[in-house]
Amino acid sequence: MPVCQAYRVQSKTMLRYLTAGESHGEALVAFLSGMPAGVKVDQSFLDRELWRRQQGYGRGGRMKIERDTAHILSGVRQGVTIGSPIAVLLENKDWKNWQESLSVESGDPAKHKRVASPRPGHADLAGALKYNFPEARYVLERASARESAARVAVGALTKLFLRELGIEVLSHVVSVGGSAIDGDISWDQIAALPERSEVMLNCAHAETEQRMKEEVDRALKTGDSVGGMFEVVAHHVPPGLGTYAQWDERLDARLAAAVMSLQAVKAVEIGAGIAAAASPGSAVHDEIGYEKPGAFAGFTRTRNNAGGIEGGVSNGEEIRVRGYLKPISTLRRPLRSVDFATREPVKAAYERSDVCVVPAAGVAAEAMVALTLAGCALDKFGGDSLGETLRNFRGYMEQLRDY
Ligand SMILES: Cc1cc2nc3c(=O)[nH]c(=O)nc-3n(C[C@H](O)[C@H](O)[C@H](O)COP(=O)(O)O)c2cc1C
Repeated sequence: MPVCQAYRVQSKTMLRYLTAGESHGEALVAFLSGMPAGVKVDQSFLDRELWRRQQGYGRGGRMKIERDTAHILSGVRQGVTIGSPIAVLLENKDWKNWQESLSVESGDPAKHKRVASPRPGHADLAGALKYNFPEARYVLERASARESAARVAVGALTKLFLRELGIEVLSHVVSVGGSAIDGDISWDQIAALPERSEVMLNCAHAETEQRMKEEVDRALKTGDSVGGMFEVVAHHVPPGLGTYAQWDERLDARLAAAVMSLQAVKAVEIGAGIAAAASPGSAVHDEIGYEKPGAFAGFTRTRNNAGGIEGGVSNGEEIRVRGYLKPISTLRRPLRSVDFATREPVKAAYERSDVCVVPAAGVAAEAMVALTLAGCALDKFGGDSLGETLRNFRGYMEQLRDY
């Protein structure tokens, strides 16, 4: 039987997920199928993750309207997963203002809110051409990064599963515009970030965060926007997730696709990938030592330029994945475009918009990394119940200890 590659990039056998919903529709829905039974679901954790995605200096007015909560419809009973598909609904609080213009029924065409000119950097033009729409409203509605909230909801569920294996996934912001942290940020510094009551730019270096804030202020003042780079770190991942056996089973490939699939992410880097391309091998590859008793099988590294993956397999070091975001496409001082109807030159349409989303994109990328690692873990350890997964996992840990 032919194998669908999109499905394979998600998970070889078990974990699958999909989202549905439009930016100003009634709700977003996410489906997660393949989670073993018996994983405790902490509703406040899910909502906290959704809150984290909504934060960050430079967000637009929408964040003031929405306060996302994950309404679990199925697959969880009495606070634990039951092995059935999980469906999560996220209400769009703004729906009340859009019911007439985006009604499911034919409604009143006079009330439709057209996006009359395609915005450069958005899916507007490509989507309108592809789906043969006369304007870009329906394109914007689905291409919008509002969709990433649904991924954060199911990603949070997989984070809870990964915790049972001792794996944690978090992110921090490395750069905003031209302001970047210099040097590595440790896991302990990253783990302290979610404790802060204000996310600001989710940067672990206070002085750099101040410079990042000034970058956002400049963009706000000039009607422009900024991009930047986040790093997702997966802590305590055992060696052996992913495989070099087939191209689409490689962990680096799966992570790259997962993070690249996020809106505005235009490059993905594993470990020191980009700098490595311009460096000699001796300065890049991570020398191997041995220390018993150590983590996992006891092999050690003096550094982690590989970002925890060699040959498409996790090697027991922290997994470090970086996502590079282009600056936000919607500008208060719009770029040139063309009116869909008249083909006359106009300024691109403007919809309420964020100016900087690097911290939020980092949170969404955490979800994508968690979904990917959970998929790889279930590929390796299997299990219809958490007990069965953990039994297999512990057996493997023992194998590593005895290696
Ligand atoms: C969390 C998040 C929020 C975003 N918010 C906005 C926004 O308010 N305005 C905007 O123009 N783009 C925003 N984007 C980026 C666009 O969704 C994205 O650039 C656009 O859909 C085109 O897709 P592409 O950049 O992947 O090609 C956001 C991205 C993320 C990850």
